Amino acid sequence: MKKKIFSGVQPTGNLHLGNYLGAIKNFVKLNNEVSNDCVFCVVDLHAITVTQDPKKLRDNIYETVATFVASGIDPEKSIIFNQSGVSAHSETAWILSCTARMGWLNRMTQFKEKAGKDKEKASIGLYSYPVLMAADILLYDTTHVPVGDDQKQHLELCRDIAQKFNNDFTADNFFRIPEPLIQKEFSRIMSLRDGSKKMSKSELSDLSRINLTDDKDQIINKIKKAKTDTLPLPSTSAGLEKRPEAKNLMGIYSSLIDENLDMTIGKFSGKNFSEFKENLSQVLVDKITPISSEIKKLLKEKNFLDQILKKGREKADRIASEKLKKIQEIVGF
Ligand code: ADP
Ligand code: TRP
Repeated sequence: MKKKIFSGVQPTGNLHLGNYLGAIKNFVKLNNEVSNDCVFCVVDLHAITVTQDPKKLRDNIYETVATFVASGIDPEKSIIFNQSGVSAHSETAWILSCTARMGWLNRMTQFKEKAGKDKEKASIGLYSYPVLMAADILLYDTTHVPVGDDQKQHLELCRDIAQKFNNDFTADNFFRIPEPLIQKEFSRIMSLRDGSKKMSKSELSDLSRINLTDDKDQIINKIKKAKTDTLPLPSTSAGLEKRPEAKNLMGIYSSLIDENLDMTIGKFSGKNFSEFKENLSQVLVDKITPISSEIKKLLKEKNFLDQILKKGREKADRIASEKLKKIQEIVGF
């Protein structure tokens, strides 16, 4: 069966190694498998659930498209578009927000984290964000959604919404129930400064993450400053327990070169961090700097990026508006 892939990335700047290893690297793999139809969306409607500077938002949309292409997604093969360009997403989100239940949304941990202490001041969009995400996915009859571990709960909500809609309207199998595609190992890359925190765009310290636009010197400097402990590297994976920073750095190394963690551990067993860090920097520089220079080059070709978005939007709109028409019929409009 042909797999249908959909995923989204927010154009909120600072795309980093966590986004790459947790999501984009997987997008590229799926894009290269001929038996897949892939849709990769720059989710600008999701981005405005928190305050954005309009000019920066526009730049970040370009940067996200450039990152997709520079990482190896082929715009001739996959659909790349921005969410606000296809109005079916917002319209479907409204309809699905009448299917989703308050109790379900109240359980979402990402809202709790992002809203912080003062929930009363969070936007309604931030609260209903997972419903829009469900609309994104369900409009394309998606079978598989490649995401990082932090999106698992949103995917479960999407499945619940699809099932309830199908039941409520006795529309058997109308919405396909999508499966998450989450990597088993290292689906969550941690901050370089604190192994208990996720590597994130919004972390204030730039030293906490490798940005996909970092150059060689920046990468080497950040790895040099990355937090470690005082022990030599272990000889078994059990030896990484309670050593979150060591585990994270070794995980990054093994994911980057696609070898399993045990092999990485074998290579560096008993060595000290300075030797390991030199190797890690080298691997990072080899993988990230070609992407980083390609992003910079593409950002000078705005017309090319506009063309990609325009073509993608047209293709996405055809699929999404057809599905929306059926949704409208089902609910009685
Ligand atoms: P962020 O979570 O940094 O704000 P997005 O929400 O746009 O970024 O996430 C884009 C994709 O990258 C999602 O699939 C998300 O799960 C993944 N992702 C983000 N941060 C990490 C991380 N530290 N480790 C692994 N995957 C991540
Ligand atoms: N919520 C996702 C994130 O923050 C981004 C996203 C929006 C998404 N719509 C999606 C991911 C649909 C997968 C499928 O990372």
